[in-house]
Amino acid sequence: MGRAAAHLFAREGAKLVGCDINPQSAQAVVDEVSAAGGTMLSLHPCDLTDPAQAQALIDRAIDAFGRIDVLYNNAAMAYFGWIDEMPIDDWYKTINEEVHIVYLLTRAAWPHLKASKGAIVNTASVSAHTTFKTLPGIAHSTAKGGIVAMTRHLAMEGAPFGVRANSLSPGVIETNQTRPLLEDKNWADYMLGRTLMHRLGQPEEIANVALFLASDESSFITGVDIVADGGTLAW
Ligand SMILES: NC(=O)c1ccc[n+]([C@@H]2O[C@H](COP(=O)([O-])OP(=O)(O)OC[C@H]3O[C@@H](n4cnc5c(N)ncnc54)[C@H](O)[C@@H]3O)[C@@H](O)[C@H]2O)c1
Repeated sequence: MGRAAAHLFAREGAKLVGCDINPQSAQAVVDEVSAAGGTMLSLHPCDLTDPAQAQALIDRAIDAFGRIDVLYNNAAMAYFGWIDEMPIDDWYKTINEEVHIVYLLTRAAWPHLKASKGAIVNTASVSAHTTFKTLPGIAHSTAKGGIVAMTRHLAMEGAPFGVRANSLSPGVIETNQTRPLLEDKNWADYMLGRTLMHRLGQPEEIANVALFLASDESSFITGVDIVADGGTLAW
């Protein structure tokens, strides 16, 4: 989804600063965006759960462009398991890599967002709002519920400075992680049956929501979570 957003934001004329803990995929996105005529640099490897590395990413952006107008907190990693089977360490890792990761980068970017009256877009999940019997996601649901609450709080703290903060909650999106699961008939029948549209979402459909929340088109929207789930929460 970050890759799709990089392409879309670059086509809109944004100057992008990306990052990834995985240097190969980060460099691939920089190369693709640059080849398409976009402006993108990246800090990689960069582990956003480390406060110093989160700060280094913000410093890189300021060194290169002098300001930050949009912070899109999309990177995350979750660990799944049923409550009594999941190693306790996986609980802590999920909270760290889905919640702390957003807090740390937002904290580092905050002075620059106040200066620019910027916009924060956080990635939550439909798992903040519902459960799936095929998904042992107790830590993930908890973390993403935290993102919705953190976003509301950021909106309150940011409003006096003209900073907007919103989250988006993707439903099940077709990515490298979910595509192989579609071959499991039980998984696919249940998950597709949970969407009114009877399909998975595409990363580009989430990037469109991120773009809207990042742009002046959403100038009177702050503190909300926009759900893009093909109708999962509607029934
Ligand atoms: N795939 C889905 O169906 C789905 C549904 C709802 C929400 N989400 C959320 O959407 C976001 C993007 O998910 P995706 O499916 O594109 O995932 P993905 O795994 O394809 O991409 C996430 C990227 O974040 C990077 N990353 C992970 N931990 C990092 C760290 N500590 N520091 C820096 N980079 C790190 C990974 O290397 C990866 O490139 C995540 O926040 C995820 O929780 C995904």
